[in-house]
Amino acid sequence: MCGIVGYVGPQQALDVVVEGLRRLEYRGYDSAGVALVTADGLATDKRAGKLANLDKALAENPPPPATSGIGHTRWATHGAPNDVNAHPHLSRGGEVALVHNGIIENFAELRDELERSGTELVSETDTEVAAHLLQRAYDALPAGQGRLAEAMREVCRRLEGAFTLVAVHRDEPDTVVGARRNSPLVAGVGTAEFFLASDVAAFIAHTREALELGEDQVVEIDRERGITVTGFDGRPAQAREYHVDWDASAAEKGGYAWFMLKEIAEQPAAVADTLRGRLTDGGEIVLDEVRLSDEDLRDVDKIFVIACGTAYHAGLVAKYAIEHWTRIPCEVELASEFRYRAPVLTRSTLVVAISQSGETMDTLQAIRHARGQRARVLSICNTNGSTMPRESDAVLYTRAGPEIAVASTKGYLTQLAACYLVGLYLARVRGVMYGDEVSAIVEQLRRTPRLIERTLARMDAVRALGRDLATAPTVLFLGRHVGYPVALEGALKLKELAYIHAEGFAGGELKHGPIALIDDGTPVVVVVPSPRGRNVLHGKVVSNIQEVRARGARMIVVAEDGDTAVEPYADEVIRVPQVPTLLAPLVTSVPLQVLACAIADARGNDVDQPRNLAKSVTVE
Ligand code: G6P
Repeated sequence: MCGIVGYVGPQQALDVVVEGLRRLEYRGYDSAGVALVTADGLATDKRAGKLANLDKALAENPPPPATSGIGHTRWATHGAPNDVNAHPHLSRGGEVALVHNGIIENFAELRDELERSGTELVSETDTEVAAHLLQRAYDALPAGQGRLAEAMREVCRRLEGAFTLVAVHRDEPDTVVGARRNSPLVAGVGTAEFFLASDVAAFIAHTREALELGEDQVVEIDRERGITVTGFDGRPAQAREYHVDWDASAAEKGGYAWFMLKEIAEQPAAVADTLRGRLTDGGEIVLDEVRLSDEDLRDVDKIFVIACGTAYHAGLVAKYAIEHWTRIPCEVELASEFRYRAPVLTRSTLVVAISQSGETMDTLQAIRHARGQRARVLSICNTNGSTMPRESDAVLYTRAGPEIAVASTKGYLTQLAACYLVGLYLARVRGVMYGDEVSAIVEQLRRTPRLIERTLARMDAVRALGRDLATAPTVLFLGRHVGYPVALEGALKLKELAYIHAEGFAGGELKHGPIALIDDGTPVVVVVPSPRGRNVLHGKVVSNIQEVRARGARMIVVAEDGDTAVEPYADEVIRVPQVPTLLAPLVTSVPLQVLACAIADARGNDVDQPRNLAKSVTVE
C-alpha cells in the first residue's frame, strides 16, 4: 500500500526513482510523484492517476539534473486521489519534500498545532503535517552532519500510528533520510549509491544487496558516509544485511501481456522451488528459520491459521490438511477479526500466519497479539526482509519470487504447498504419522508441479469460456471439502479482476439460501471432488450440480480426468489431472485463475492493477 523510493548516487536520480516507482506501482496507483534535489532547489512533480500521467508530465517538462531524489506511488487513505494530495509533500518554504506510507493517527492534533502557529496546509493528507514538522525540527538544529536524520528522529518521536517516511532537504543534495514504524522500508546498498524503498523490487536492477530495517528506526543514506541506522532515540541500531536471490528479470513481464499471466505460468516452478530442499526421502521436512524446539511443537494443542484475502483461502485449505494429518484442532481466521475477539491463546497454541508480502498490517497485528499472549507463531511468507518473519518464532519461506500482479496466483499456490509442508512437519514431530506415510505424501507433493503444468497446458478452452462469460452479471462458485476454499478463491479472483458479482458457497449450503440466486443462464462453476477416495463427497456434489441445473443455471464443472459422472449435467467441463483429494487445490485453483484473468481481459480491465486495490495492505 503506497510505494516509496529514495535514491542517492551518481546516476540521474529521476531515472532511478521513476524506474523504481514503475516496479512498485502494484502497491498503489491513485497518484504518483517525485522530488529531486537540484542545484536550484527542490524540483517536484506529482499527478493523480497512474504513473503514466506523471511520466507524461515529466516528459513535457523535464526537471533539472539531480543525484538524489524521492518518489511515491499512492493508495489513498487521507484525502481524495488528486494532484494536491499526491506525494511528495513540501514544507511551507519548499525546503523539505517528504513521502509517506501508512496513517499518522494523531495528525488532527498536529495539524491544529501547525495551523495555530500560522502554517497553512494545502492538502487534506496526514503526510503534509510531517513535512512541516520536519522542516521546523531541521531549522531548530545546528548545521552539521546528520541534521536531517536528527530532525526526522524528532518528528518520529511525536508521531503515532504506522508510517514509513522518506525525505530530502533542499540544502542536503547528498542525503536521503527514511524512517519506519509498522510499515515497510528496506535499504539497497550499491557501489557508491544507495536506495530506500518499500521493497527490493524498486532497486533490484541496480543492486541485490539489501538491508532490513527494524521497527522505530531512522536510516540515512549519504553519498559520502554511506548508510547510518539509528533508533528513534538516536542510538546506533543494527540492520540485517541480506542478498536478494532473484534478479530484475524476475520482476519483468517477459513477453506476457500481464504480470498475472506470467505469474500463473510460473506456478509449476514456484511450487517446485517451494518444495525443493524441504522434503527428504526419509519423510523429514526442513523449515527455514525455526526458533522453536520439537518439544514446543509436541506441546501444541491448538492451531490458528490467520491471514487475509487470498492467503486466507490458502489457510482454509490448510485446515483440512493439518487436522487430517496432525489431529490437532485447527481454526482459520481472518487476521483482521482475530485479535478483536479475544481468542483463547496459550503457550501451547501455534499460530500459523500466511502472507505473501509479510507486511499486511492486519496479519502483523494479529501476530503481535498472539505473541503477546505467549502463543508461538510460525509464518509462511514470500518476502525475505519483511516484518512478519522477523517477528515470528519460525518461518517457512515460499519461494514464489516477486509477485507483481495485485491478484495473488503463484503466491497462493506456493502458500498451499507450504501449508502442506507445515502439516506434515507437525505430524512428523508429534509422531502421529509414520515416516513412510509422510514419505508417500511427500512423493505425491513432488508430483504436483508437473500436474500444475499439465493443467496449464489445457487452458485454451477456459480462455474461450472467459471471453464468453465477459458480460455475465453474476457468477457463482460451489465446492465441498477442500473444493470449498477453492470456490471462494475463484469468486474472489473474479470480483477483484473482472468487477463482476461473484460468490463462493459450500455445496451443502446451497439449499439454505444461495439457490435462490440461480436464474436462467446464471453461470455456476462447480469444483468437483475426485470420485476416487472420498466418493461420498463426489456423489453429493453431483447432486448439487443437478439441483442447480434444474433451476436453469449454466453449469461449468471442474472435474478430474476420467470423471464421466458429471458429463450429463455439465454445459462445460474443465478437465484437471488426477490428484489426491487433499492436494487437489493445487490444480483445481488454476483454471479459476485463468478464467478470472480471461474475463477481466475481455472486459478491458487492467488485470494487474484492478481498481481500488493495492497489493500490500499496510494499513488496518
Ligand atoms: C491484498 C492483495 C491480495 C492478498 C492480500 C493478503 O488484498 O490484493 O492478493 O491476498 O492482500 O496479502 P498478503 O501479502 O498478506 O498475502
